[in-house]
Amino acid sequence: MAHGLYPKPPDLRGQRTQKLSDGELFWIIENGVRFTGMPAFGGTGEHGSGDDSWKLVRFIRHLPQLTMEERMEMDRYNPKGPDDRKEEQEENDFLQGQPVQQKPPGAHHH
Ligand code: HEM
Repeated sequence: MAHGLYPKPPDLRGQRTQKLSDGELFWIIENGVRFTGMPAFGGTGEHGSGDDSWKLVRFIRHLPQLTMEERMEMDRYNPKGPDDRKEEQEENDFLQGQPVQQKPPGAHHH
């Protein structure tokens, strides 16, 4: 979603974000940033507002130390597009010993 947004969303691992206090991060998550793409995530959720936003504050604090394993775990929760699903299908077919679909010669882009 960040593409084409102005102002650009910050890199949450960076100084600009990490030097904000926990309270400031919490406030921004709850209220958003006016006149930008940053929406407000506050409101009355199942546990009342606040809980999830404090979890997000801790998440943002953890981002600079994110391990490769955690990154891959997060990747698995990302929505999948048709290309990802096709690739996954091909991997499963291959693992189950099915012949891999060959592209006809000359079908690739230049
Ligand atoms: C769980 C989701 C999100 C969290 C926890 C989050 C958190 C934050 C925080 C803490 C900031 C301020 C950081 C700073 O100023 O350095 C920020 C800024 C911003 N966010 Fe988000 N954000 C989320 C989702 C989004 C989404 C979905 C969009 C847009 C589609 C967005 C767009 C922006 C923009 C444009 C800013 C910068 C505003 C400015 O220039 O002051 N954010 N976000």
